[in-house]
Amino acid sequence: MTEQKYAIVGTGGRHQTFRRAITETHPEGNRLVALCDVNDLRLALSARSAPPQPGNGIATYNASEFDRMIAEQRPDTVIVTVPDYLHHEYIVPAFRAGCNVITEKPMTIDLDKLKSVLDAQRETGRTVTVTFNYRYTPARTQLKDILMSGKIGEIEAVDFRWYVDRVHGAYYFRRWHRYKDRSGGLLVTRQHITST
Ligand SMILES: NC(=O)c1ccc[n+]([C@@H]2O[C@H](COP(=O)([O-])OP(=O)(O)OC[C@H]3O[C@@H](n4cnc5c(N)ncnc54)[C@H](O)[C@@H]3O)[C@@H](O)[C@H]2O)c1
Repeated sequence: MTEQKYAIVGTGGRHQTFRRAITETHPEGNRLVALCDVNDLRLALSARSAPPQPGNGIATYNASEFDRMIAEQRPDTVIVTVPDYLHHEYIVPAFRAGCNVITEKPMTIDLDKLKSVLDAQRETGRTVTVTFNYRYTPARTQLKDILMSGKIGEIEAVDFRWYVDRVHGAYYFRRWHRYKDRSGGLLVTRQHITST
């Protein structure tokens, strides 16, 4: 199997899931070649936290050097874990540089940005995978299986409530998620659950 090379842009809370998956859980055939962020401290901390990678190790780049990172490291896949309103700013250039993309949900937050992603995807023939990981948790897949089996008949109405508690919910509203122009608002933010 050909080795797959990855670069991650955005080294905040969420990127650790991807960094660990590549460098610790599934290191065979996968290599993390680069990290990119506006924040040099986060970059350094992340690079230091990963086990040593074969070859030249994990290179770190400031966000202003994203294009240089792609040119020098030639990742097959760029993983986008920056705040939601910035996803398209990395998805589109990654496509144009010949990379596939894995992006955190939501893919983007409004129609103009969505159009720019879909246009670039069509023009380049690259792929973008959106990580709706919550949909694949055991309780949700079981619920879906029950609904799809027809056991409870035809679904005519759905009353959905999601109680974001004082830990998870409050945390969302203490940072950029609370601004609609950065997260698209709560319905967009929680779409990984609501459109299952
Ligand atoms: N699938 C899930 O269950 C799940 C859970 C949490 C977060 N998320 C999503 O993951 C993504 C990241 O969320 P997070 O919690 O890690 O956020 P975070 O704020 O902890 O991290 C974002 C990182 O991006 C960096 N950044 C900001 N602007 C940048 C720019 N212009 N260029 C490069 N880097 C930049 C920040 O310095 C920071 O390190 C978001 O899209 C979020 O909605 C998904």
